[in-house]
Amino acid sequence: MINLFSFTTMQLDLSSPFSLATLRYSQVVFLMVPTVLFCWFLWLLLFRQWCHPKDKRLPPGSMGWPYIGETLKLYTENPNSFFSNRQKRFGDIFKTHILGCPCVMISSPEAARIVLVTRAHLFKPTYPTSKEKMIGPEALFFHQGPYHSRLKKLVQASFLPSAIRGSVSEIEQIVQRFLPTWKNSTINTLQEMKRYAFDVAMISAFGEKQDLEMEGIKQLYQCLEKGYNSMPLDLPGTPFHKAMKARKLLNETLRKLIRKRRQSGRYGGGLLGVLLGAKDHDEKLDQLSDSQIADNIIGVIFAAHDTTATVLTWILKYLHDNQDLLDAVSREQEGIRSKIVEANRGLTWDDTRRMPLTSRVIQETLRTASILSFTFREAVQDVEFEGYFIPKGWKVLPLFRSIHHCADYFPQPEKFDPSRFEAPPRPNTYMPFGNGVHSCPGSELAKLEMLILLHHLTTTYRWQTVGDKDDIQYGPFPVPKSGLPIRVNRRNKSAIF
Ligand code: HEM
Repeated sequence: MINLFSFTTMQLDLSSPFSLATLRYSQVVFLMVPTVLFCWFLWLLLFRQWCHPKDKRLPPGSMGWPYIGETLKLYTENPNSFFSNRQKRFGDIFKTHILGCPCVMISSPEAARIVLVTRAHLFKPTYPTSKEKMIGPEALFFHQGPYHSRLKKLVQASFLPSAIRGSVSEIEQIVQRFLPTWKNSTINTLQEMKRYAFDVAMISAFGEKQDLEMEGIKQLYQCLEKGYNSMPLDLPGTPFHKAMKARKLLNETLRKLIRKRRQSGRYGGGLLGVLLGAKDHDEKLDQLSDSQIADNIIGVIFAAHDTTATVLTWILKYLHDNQDLLDAVSREQEGIRSKIVEANRGLTWDDTRRMPLTSRVIQETLRTASILSFTFREAVQDVEFEGYFIPKGWKVLPLFRSIHHCADYFPQPEKFDPSRFEAPPRPNTYMPFGNGVHSCPGSELAKLEMLILLHHLTTTYRWQTVGDKDDIQYGPFPVPKSGLPIRVNRRNKSAIF
């Protein structure tokens, strides 16, 4: 408030040519009215953030300094200890103030379920505007209600086990193209996994048939991705500006492809084919527009590849650090391999259903690494919540990582122990793919591509980490430092059999 007034005074500096003496009464009123209105609006905004009806109880916690809140603490402390220290002090539901927003953090499974499932309509997903612009405002993440559920059904239909079981051999071909290029060299695991997961995402989005536009789409997408985590500063030369330019071109290229497929009447495979054919399956609904389709295609590629690549990077780290486990996984995969070789065929969907230990390694990696540490929601109205009051507009963050690392649900939570998944986890305590209406539609595809890569990697290769062993970096997901550089060699089979 003080800053705002000093700014106004500066504008009306008496010594300047634009002084009060030169202003007529009407001009003063003209300047004062918006200023007063603006101050009043700001005061109301702050009042809403910092005050609440006296009879209502906000969750315990500290809001830190005005405006900056506890943002500096979050950035200077390890994010895990930031959350766990406050949870120890204030309990499973506590308030804080980060990145300019008052927030309520939730780290009990039951309360997370209320936010994500039972009262999900009161808590809408919320993302920074810059991310919405980059992905495209019509992507399903940003919506609630009928538009979201229509799109969610279509996306889910494309990634159900029945829809993806036919992709095993294509995904296997991608793996077989990649792995030999790693042999006898040092690779950046995260970067290689991103290339792999990106190629899988492309066939899921567009189908097997490679249209002419595909190479252009790949390049523009990569340009877009570079600016995704940059400062949202739209000035010539900034990564954000370059990314926004790429986004525009990407939109044009996708629209061309969409028009081509519409005109030919052959919608083609992948999610694009499903979205183009949406009306044909339900006459009552309108066709999806080109921009709705384009935004959702880009959105799904975004959601699909960084996440899966990061989890794969952690899997290689955990298997490297637990050699006995790596040997056991290799034995499981070798059993399948010998049957495949005997029958002279490729890997099938059914083979991937007979990998219980490898599947548990994936489950435990998803828990331990918890790459999506939390998700953001926003209260759409004032909400009474577990005896507390959450004002409209406050952010609400279910903390997946805190729940996954709670010793009450996962004893010795820091230990990497896939055997804990021999029994199912307690309901609502395990949410690597979220929960409720916005939960991940791509979980089966993600697991499938991990199983296929692990099958070939563990039966044929071994890897050694290079450089710092245990550091983590955030970009934005937690990953082993520098993307886990590893040296890959062909495996000496006699060593374990
Ligand atoms: C291991 C890899 C993955 C992880 C850990 C992951 C995790 C998640 C999580 C936690 C959410 C819920 C976010 C929220 O509630 O705010 C989510 C949503 C989503 N995921 Fe994934 N995901 C992965 C892979 C994929 C793949 C492969 C696809 C694409 C096929 C995909 C597509 C989506 C989409 C479209 C949403 C938004 C759903 C909605 O808003 O209704 N994800 N993911």
